[in-house]
Amino acid sequence: MSRLARRVSALTPSLTLAIAARTKALKAEGINIHGLSAGEPDFDTPAVITAAAHAALARGETKYGPVSGQPLLRRLIADKLAKENGLPFTPEQILVTNGGKQSLYNAIMALIEPGDEVLIPAPYWLSYPEMVALAGGTSVFLPTDEASDFKISAAQLEAAITPRTRLLILNSPSNPTGMIYNRSELQALAEVVVRRDLLVISDEIYEKLVYDRAEHVSIGSFGPEIFQRTIISGGFSKAYAMTGWRLGYLAGPSDIVEAASNIQGHSTSNVAVFAQAGAIAALQEPSIPETVEAMVRVFAERRLRMFSALSAIDGIQCCCSQGAFYLFPNISASGLDSTTFCEQLLDQFHVAAVAGVAFGSDSHIRLSYATDNETIDQGIAGIKRFMATRLTYASLR
Ligand SMILES: Cc1ncc(COP(=O)(O)O)c(C=O)c1O
Repeated sequence: MSRLARRVSALTPSLTLAIAARTKALKAEGINIHGLSAGEPDFDTPAVITAAAHAALARGETKYGPVSGQPLLRRLIADKLAKENGLPFTPEQILVTNGGKQSLYNAIMALIEPGDEVLIPAPYWLSYPEMVALAGGTSVFLPTDEASDFKISAAQLEAAITPRTRLLILNSPSNPTGMIYNRSELQALAEVVVRRDLLVISDEIYEKLVYDRAEHVSIGSFGPEIFQRTIISGGFSKAYAMTGWRLGYLAGPSDIVEAASNIQGHSTSNVAVFAQAGAIAALQEPSIPETVEAMVRVFAERRLRMFSALSAIDGIQCCCSQGAFYLFPNISASGLDSTTFCEQLLDQFHVAAVAGVAFGSDSHIRLSYATDNETIDQGIAGIKRFMATRLTYASLR
């Protein structure tokens, strides 16, 4: 009999770790790896943010703080959500968390019981189903593909609802597909959520990373009925290049945020107080919006660079998604599953990518353009050579 709790056996071991270990081993042999697997910006945290954290440390801000976060930070987050997103939360409805990840975990733990069903559009960010499993819930996946631009429709949502459905988890812009729901698509989904009395967790961590003329809209912004059913997960990791700071937030109906705060109070307590000083600077410093825009401009150029090189490869099909920093090409013409594709790509052409199966699609790989142009060029050139060998092999069979 295992000495581990049953809930642990419900977890899937991280597929991304295996490829990361292989990448490390090849690097240790002195091989230059073209890394297209990063899940974080390659920029440094803006200097005014790090300076604010240094100053907080110098002031001795090293003690426990309130579990839900520093009052000023909660107020600034509430102001931001009201002003930028049309979401009228009060500061009491904000919980500062250790990254966006902890806000999702706390919310799911606060809401989901064994037997509850959670609707998750697929491909999905890989931690959602694991968190649902830890809570004892059941993930119900809503499949999407290139034909639907990797987005679910209102009819698809409606058809998946059962008496056990509690929650929809929406992620726009999406990791891994980079897709963004537009206003009318969100409005149609919101209408179903309200009519069928569901809750929605809207993961908006990539909200600032949108390109072309795309616009980020929050599903909670279409009026009081959907607002009362919306829980926002957001954070500082991606927009402000602060992944290592572990700073995120949850915003939602008071009872849910209070329950999530109680969970946090008995698990991790407050986010490091001096790190919160950095988040305060991110929201207050006048230079930050321009710094973020400059990073977004660089991501926008890299996205087009990667997309045009990728689209020129025989056998690759790819949507030109407009958000986050990922492309999600279809590699099924290679005749390989996504794990074997990524393993062979790494071993033979020294390109690191993430197998789509980790996100719920075995026909795709996830490529990140949160890296420099040379790595993008070399990486896509490697994929091109690999695809050519695969297509030749397929034609000979
Ligand atoms: C879709 C999505 N949500 C949430 C997170 C969690 O972000 P954080 O690093 O702030 O915990 C990530 C990080 O990769 C993500 O891709």
